[in-house]
Amino acid sequence: MAEDTRTRATAAPNFALVKYWGKADDEAMMPAVPSLSMTLEGPLVEVSLSDGGEEDRVWLDGTPVHETWRARTARFLDLARQRAGASGHVDVRSVGGMPPAAGLASSAAFFAALARAAAARWGLGEDTGTISDLARMGSVSASRSVPGGWVVLDPAGRRGPVLEARTVFAPDHWDVTVIVAVVDTAEKQVASSDGMRLTRDSSPYYGAWVDASVGLFEDGLRAVGERDMEGLARVAERSCMMMHASAMACEPPILYLAPATLAVTRAVTRMRASGLGCLYTIDAGPQVKVVCAKEDVDRVREGVLSVPGVLGIMEHAPGAGCRLLGAGSDPPRSP
Ligand code: DP6
Repeated sequence: MAEDTRTRATAAPNFALVKYWGKADDEAMMPAVPSLSMTLEGPLVEVSLSDGGEEDRVWLDGTPVHETWRARTARFLDLARQRAGASGHVDVRSVGGMPPAAGLASSAAFFAALARAAAARWGLGEDTGTISDLARMGSVSASRSVPGGWVVLDPAGRRGPVLEARTVFAPDHWDVTVIVAVVDTAEKQVASSDGMRLTRDSSPYYGAWVDASVGLFEDGLRAVGERDMEGLARVAERSCMMMHASAMACEPPILYLAPATLAVTRAVTRMRASGLGCLYTIDAGPQVKVVCAKEDVDRVREGVLSVPGVLGIMEHAPGAGCRLLGAGSDPPRSP
């Protein structure tokens, strides 16, 4: 029997300062708007692939995932095999990262690491752009966890089905820290993909959101380039609130924000008014990501932790993107 060699890769979450919300093409996983994000250095997700059985199987932290997630992963693996002309099902084991589906970008890190491992296993190469384009087929935001630092992803464009995220500024371009304020770790009620489809199909504000996106993106890029926290705060908080406002106007409405989410945004606004370099952004869940200037991190942390309803925080610096780990030949642990 042939030796079963594992292929392992890691990736970390990214979060967007100028948000992606809405697809131009659901099947081709093409975003309708440009986005600007920062890839974090952690918490790292490690994904390993090993020879599988009759079908692709997936474990998260040792527990088999529910069928919806397994089928989504299997569809992604089918596409990777098809691109590579490869065959053979695999066992996928994912360890670490943030709690799944709580709006903490766990799927972005998962699909970025999975794309990196699948590309190595099936000979799709090392090119960051190719792997980012592949990761996008698992989850659009995953394409932005492949490269490191400050990253952009264009909207659907002229290059047919190909679209990859790219680094515009290295991780050390700007000395900032991200404080993630956790206010609720329950699984989110409406998955991002469903929320953005409903927004596109039923929100009267979706058109305004798409129209505003290019201006926000250009202003955001300029602010990051100039390390202008005030300017980036204006853009990022507006992009965030426009995204949530468009979702709130769906039929039926989608509300990702909890009372403590809003309390954190107010605390951040107050801290900024008092001279601290900080801004907030919120994804498809109630947690708040607070970007702060390194020199202000102690005071911003204290301010965030003092908000009633904040259960805890995580802190991360910008990171270098996904990475292939040495291919191990130790037999996979029994599930
Ligand atoms: C609110 O990338 O999770 O985090 O492409 O359907 O998998 P799919 O959605 P996903 O959406 C992320 C949306 C967001 C904003 C962002 O990351 O830009």
